[in-house]
Amino acid sequence: MPKTIKKIGVLTSGGDAPGMNAAIRSVVRTCAFYKIKCVGIYRGYQGMIEGDFKDLNARSVNNIINKGGTFLKTARSQEFRTKEGRKLAYDHLVKKNIDALVLIGGDGTFTGGMIFSKEYNFPIIGIPGTIDNDILGTNFTLGYDTALNTAVEAIDKIRDTASSHKRLFFVEVMGRDVGHIALNAGVGSGAEEILVPEENLGLERLLESLLKSRKTGKSSTIVLVAEGDKTGNNVFELRDYVEENLKDYDVRVSVLGHMQRGGAPSCFDRVLASKMGVKAVESLMNGKNNVMVGTINNIIELYPIDKAVKGHTKIDEELLRVSDILNI
Ligand code: F6P
Repeated sequence: MPKTIKKIGVLTSGGDAPGMNAAIRSVVRTCAFYKIKCVGIYRGYQGMIEGDFKDLNARSVNNIINKGGTFLKTARSQEFRTKEGRKLAYDHLVKKNIDALVLIGGDGTFTGGMIFSKEYNFPIIGIPGTIDNDILGTNFTLGYDTALNTAVEAIDKIRDTASSHKRLFFVEVMGRDVGHIALNAGVGSGAEEILVPEENLGLERLLESLLKSRKTGKSSTIVLVAEGDKTGNNVFELRDYVEENLKDYDVRVSVLGHMQRGGAPSCFDRVLASKMGVKAVESLMNGKNNVMVGTINNIIELYPIDKAVKGHTKIDEELLRVSDILNI
């Protein structure tokens, strides 16, 4: 018989993502709805170690559904990787009478949570929040949709200046291990080539494609590069390579960087966050533990958290084909 949950702690950890605030709001308000107490834990696991807690009620989360970032702040705690750090964190949770945790973050957050949960037999549930969309067990992570729209908007602007000057731009987007952002923002912005970590398309192919692009009379060229791409070492080296080999190309580089993590969440991310928060609290009330809330084919489902961190989601290979066809 699982222990009755009377107080839930909620935290955000790892890289922030748009929609995290909407998820916190949903967790806090669902707790209020079911008359469960809710405690906000600041700065992720680091705040848990330091006892940086604040009681939250339905009104504490007014007007945050539309805000980027995370009002609980976030951190990548090194101390939580140690047994001593986790012991301090546990002691603070016990002192505050917290019975279970909702962890909003990516694979690092979930891995830390699982170790902690196992060590102290402490109920946890994960909500996937990362712009990279790389977590197994969900079609979408919070922040991914917003980041895609942010990237596409930025690339559209780069296209304006690229075509005015008849230039080639290498645009780097986030995605350390997976190419979801590059691939989707690339197709969405009409990029001529898309380089992703999953496939090494080779520099020769890139040159061929650029030559073709020129011959067919294109006035600008955008090559979208995921930060984890294996083709060249980085966008600046790719630029140097092309400048050396295709003398008539005027090349520029634009690294979109952390702007992709900021901004107001899209409606899609707000709705997803709202649904996930409700499911997280209700699942804890029903005795669920060590699971992640995911969305599969538009249905909110639970997925074992240990499986969620065992690898990365696959890119949509069909999109690479679509991109090749449209890049005529
Ligand atoms: O986890 C998401 C992500 O945006 C990655 O794509 C990127 O490599 C990383 O975060 C950068 O994070 P930070 O600068 O916070 O270490």
